[in-house]
This record gives sequence, structure tokens and C-alpha cells, in this order.
Amino acid sequence: MTTGAFPNTRFRRVRRSDALRRLTAEVTLSVDDLIWPVFVMAGEDATHPIPSMPGVERLTVDRVVHAAEEAAGLGIPAICIFPYTDPSLKTEDCAEAWNPENLTNRAVRAIKAAVPEIAVMTDIALDPYNINGHDGFVVGGEIVNDETVEALVKMALAQAEAGADILGPSDMMDGRIGAIRTALEDAGHRNVAILSYAAKYASAFYGPFRDAVGASGALKGDKKTYQMQARNSDEALRLVERDLKEGADMVMVKPGMAYLDICRRVKDAFGAPTYAYQVSGEYAMLTGAAERGWLDGPLVMEESLLAFKRAGCDGILTYFAPEMARVLGARRP
Ligand code: PBG
Repeated sequence: MTTGAFPNTRFRRVRRSDALRRLTAEVTLSVDDLIWPVFVMAGEDATHPIPSMPGVERLTVDRVVHAAEEAAGLGIPAICIFPYTDPSLKTEDCAEAWNPENLTNRAVRAIKAAVPEIAVMTDIALDPYNINGHDGFVVGGEIVNDETVEALVKMALAQAEAGADILGPSDMMDGRIGAIRTALEDAGHRNVAILSYAAKYASAFYGPFRDAVGASGALKGDKKTYQMQARNSDEALRLVERDLKEGADMVMVKPGMAYLDICRRVKDAFGAPTYAYQVSGEYAMLTGAAERGWLDGPLVMEESLLAFKRAGCDGILTYFAPEMARVLGARRP
């Protein structure tokens, strides 16, 4: 990279007009980059607001199907399902997690029947079903790894059976990608993709999500023995490499905004399809400030998403997906 001296070089020449700025843009944000996380709850034709996530609601399965239709209409390539599990179904053995008739699996089947063209992603972790809010089984105060992986495999198979296109293990147990991949191959689910939450940090930015899935009150302690510590980054590369070797097709860094350096390093090191999760707390910060008139909502939404493209991400899980898609669609009719 060489740069001449003033006045031969004037950076402002190509910033003069929208046309020149578009022509010199290094990255672009497209609707193709968006994965929309949605929350599903029991019942019919109903919604329930999530106060810490303004504009986001839990939806019943029929409403989630409408949401998927809307997303497909906007050109959003994928929707990701998270269940709000009724507290009465939360148990120590988490059996609801692999129930073929649980909310997630019913939502997957309903969406695939009505909107087959949209990719459906699911979440693999025990926290929505666990009486103590953890992503794994708790035995004598320890979140046990290998027993949890066995349960995650059952969950993965039930979701693949329901028709999920992309499985998203978000639990951070060791060895789960390999175990899930082997089980999928053995069961004939050769084309089911795995998007591993490979570099997932123990983050306070997940707070509003835990409200949304009803895990906030339930969670005992923290997730620091299985999720990464914020002080580390080399470890993220080792985790991504491990998960790719075990059979992940795509990898994720999570949360997003506070971990953009990790996105860039992961993309540069492996060149694999790389995603970031702009998590609930990031969404809450931006929408909360916008609601008060402290920030311009649509502008910070787009700016925050462009950061992920600049950091090398191929896509972003974001609660802004439909709103962003609408803005992008209105711009280029
Ligand atoms: C749990 C899970 C979490 C999120 C996705 N899957 C929360 C956690 O690890 O406690 C967070 C998503 C968000 O905050 O938007 N398996």
C-alpha cells in the first residue's frame, strides 16, 4: 500500500458523492448476510414482548411460520429458532431437549412445510430445558462434559429428523462437534450443516436473551467453566481449528461487537465460513439508547452490522435482520 503526498493525494476526492462512495466501498452489507434469531413459545396466535429487547417478541409456532414467510419475502436466507420452554417442562434430566415434539422441532417442521426455501437453524444446548439454567448436566455442582455430549447428540438427531438445515451447538462442551457429526453420518443425515458456536465467551451481554428464553431466574452461578474468558484470543483459534477438524461446516464468534478482533483472526487463519452473533445485550444497548432518542436507531444498526463485514464475517446473527433487510430493500428496489 502506497499513499502519495498532498495535494497529489486528496482522500476527499472519492468521498465527494454517494456514487463515488459506493464505488469505493470495500465491504457491503447485503440481506444475504443475515440470520434472524426468533423466540418460539407454546400456544396459538399469540406474542409476548421481551422488555429488555424492545421490538422483539416470543411467537407461537403459527406466528413463527408467518415470521419465516416474512423473512423469506425480504430475502433473508436463514432463521434461527430458540425456544421459551414452559417452566413445568424444565427438569434435571432435560428430557424435553430431545423430545421430537418439543417447541423447536415443531417449529422446524412447520416452517419447512410452509417456507421450504428458507434455511432453518436450531440451537443445541440444554439451558432452555435445564432446571438450573446451565447448558450441560449439573452433577454435584459440576457441569459434566461427556454425559452432556451424549444428550446433545440426541438433541441434534431430533432436530435433523425434524428437518433443520443448520444445527448450532452453542453449549461449549468439548468433543460435541465430532460426536454430533458422527451420529448424523451414521443416521444418514449427511447434508445437515453444523454452525459451531466455536468461540463463545462467558459474557454479560447475554442477559436479555436469558430473559427471552426464561433462563434468567433459573441460572445458578455462571458459565465460566465452559464458555471462554474474555481475556483470551489464541484459545479462540484453537477452538475453531478443533471444531473444523471435528466436522463443523461454519464457525461462529460470540458475542459480536466486543470480539471483532477474534472474527478477523478466525477468518484470516482458516478462511472458513465465519459468522458473528450480535447478541441480545448488543441489541438492547442500541435499541435502548435509540428509544430514548440518544442514538439514531437505523444508523447505528447499519454501522454496527458493517463492522462485522469489515472484520471478515460472512454473515451475522442479528435481531435486527428484518429491519435491516427492509432498509436494504428500500434502498435498491
Ligand atoms: C445458550 C445460548 C445463549 C445465547 C444463545 N444460546 C446464552 C448463554 O449462553 O447463556 C445468547 C444469545 C444472545 O444473547 O442473543 N445456549
